[in-house]
Amino acid sequence: MREFVLYSRKGRTDGDFKTLKEAGRLDTVYQCILTSIFKSHAHRPGVVFHAVLGGPPRPPLRIRIDGDTLRDVRVDERSWEAILRSVLRGKAHPGISVDVMSIQGLVKRKHADGYKIYVLEEKGEDISECDLSGDILVVLGDHIGLPKKDEKFLLRFGRKMSLGRETYLAASCIDIVNYVIDRSVEH
Ligand SMILES: C[S@@+](CC[C@H](N)C(=O)[O-])C[C@H]1O[C@@H](n2cnc3c(N)ncnc32)[C@H](O)[C@@H]1O
Repeated sequence: MREFVLYSRKGRTDGDFKTLKEAGRLDTVYQCILTSIFKSHAHRPGVVFHAVLGGPPRPPLRIRIDGDTLRDVRVDERSWEAILRSVLRGKAHPGISVDVMSIQGLVKRKHADGYKIYVLEEKGEDISECDLSGDILVVLGDHIGLPKKDEKFLLRFGRKMSLGRETYLAASCIDIVNYVIDRSVEH
């Protein structure tokens, strides 16, 4: 499995919002869902996206989206605004679940399940040197970045991985990782 975790530090943890942007930048969560799960006219099999939300009123909440079982979705922001509002209000949607989970708890659990953990950061080991085979969990921060104390904890279970010196949008980072793995499977 290939799994991505975005830590959305201010992402709202209820459905009480008008737009994704005003909901603690849930628009970044939407953008990362797109690049994690969607290819043109298809979902990516074997890919799961998690957003750990740290905003009010009931953090930490984890939204989990499974590319294999996700149904009834389109790729536009308005559709996802409605879906995220609905699941955060406790309604069901195929392929999406919401539960109480911290970033530390999630990474610890995945490590115990045998996943290789990579924390995305400019000053890490270059992606070309990293072993991306098998089960991997790739962790990234939002526009604010990962809190230092969480990053320190996560690095007990994994290592930093770099995509180069430029700082990219979180969603672009996911695209790059997917692209690199896609290309390595082709060759
Ligand atoms: C938009 S960046 C955050 C920038 C934010 N201003 C900061 O100081 O962390 C969002 C996330 O993308 C990841 N990221 C961005 N560029 C990267 C790069 N070149 N290599 C690895 N990770 C990167 C990091 O995980 C970062 O937390």
